[in-house]
Amino acid sequence: MDFRTPDLDQLAEQVIPQTHFELSAADARDKFFTTGWMLEEKQLVHNRYRTNPRSMLDHMLENLALSGAEELLDLGCGNGFILEHLRPHLAAGHIVGFDIAPGVLEAARERIEGTVTPCEWVEGSADDLSRFADDSFDRVMANYMMHYVPDIDRCLAETRRVLRPGGRFMLTTDRPDSMVEMYEVHFTALKQMGAPERLFKATPKARISLENGHEQLAPHFAGVELRTWQDQLQFASPEPFLRFYHAHNYCCAASDAAADELGQTFFAELRERVRAQVQEVIDTRGYFAVTKFTGSFICR
Ligand SMILES: C[S@@+](CC[C@H](N)C(=O)[O-])C[C@H]1O[C@@H](n2cnc3c(N)ncnc32)[C@H](O)[C@@H]1O
Repeated sequence: MDFRTPDLDQLAEQVIPQTHFELSAADARDKFFTTGWMLEEKQLVHNRYRTNPRSMLDHMLENLALSGAEELLDLGCGNGFILEHLRPHLAAGHIVGFDIAPGVLEAARERIEGTVTPCEWVEGSADDLSRFADDSFDRVMANYMMHYVPDIDRCLAETRRVLRPGGRFMLTTDRPDSMVEMYEVHFTALKQMGAPERLFKATPKARISLENGHEQLAPHFAGVELRTWQDQLQFASPEPFLRFYHAHNYCCAASDAAADELGQTFFAELRERVRAQVQEVIDTRGYFAVTKFTGSFICR
C-alpha cells in the first residue's frame, strides 16, 4: 500500500524542522519507560486505527525469515509486544530480551512467561554487549530504539560481533516525515501559543532514520537492504488520537529538559488547541489521518 502523495511530501517540507530532539538513554530508563504505559497506548491505538491490513508485525516476520529454532536478541525489547507475536515462530528457539529500563523488561517477562520458548531478560545499554560471546545469535533486532543509544557506532559494531555468520540484523526506524499530520497540528498549536523556539524540533529518530541509516550501517555489514512499510491511522473522533499524541510525549515537547517549567496548564492548552484542529479536519473530511513511513534495514 502506498500512502505517499505529493501533497504529503509538500506538507513535510513545510512542517518538519531540520533540527531534532536528543533523548538520552538515562531519560528512557528513568522517565519514559519506568512502566510500559506509553508503549501500550501507542500499540493499542496503532492496532485499532490502522488501515493497512498487513501489520507491522507481518512486515517484521517476513523480514526476519525465522525457521523456528533461531537464537534471537531483541535490543530495546520494551514491553515485549513484538516478542509476544514473534514467539510462536521461535517455538524451538531461544530469546534474549535486552533493555535499559527494568520496568518494561519486567512487563516483557510477564508477557512471555510460561511459554515453551526459553527466554532471558537482560538489563543494560545496547552499546555494551560484552556479556555476549562472539557469534551468539542467529537474529538480532533493534526496533524503534537505536536513537536512544549513546554510542550508535559501537552498538552496531557489537551487534556485528555477536551475530553468527549467515545471521540477520533487523533495524527498524522511521522516515523523518513519518506522522507529519501529527506534527502539523502540534506545531500550529505551539505557534498559536507563542511557545519557546526550543520546542520546534523534529523527532529524535532523525538521529538514525530511514534516510541516514544506510550510511551508518554500511561500515559494519557486508549487505544492507532497506524494506519499507507504511500505514495510515484514521481517526473518526479526536480522543484516541489525543491519547496517541500524549503517548508520544506531545511530539517530544514534554520530553524537553525544561518541560517542567512550562507546567501542566501549558500542555492542557496545547492539547485543546490540537483537539480543535483535529475536530475541524474530521468535520470536513470524516476522519483525521496520521501516515506512518517506517521500515527495516536488513543487514547481513
Ligand atoms: C520506543 S521503545 C521500543 C520498544 C520495542 N522495541 C518496540 O518496538 O515495541 C524504546 C526502548 O528502548 C529502550 N532503550 C533506550 N535506550 C536504550 C539503550 N541504550 N539500550 C537498550 N535499550 C534502550 C527503552 O527503555 C525502550 O524500552
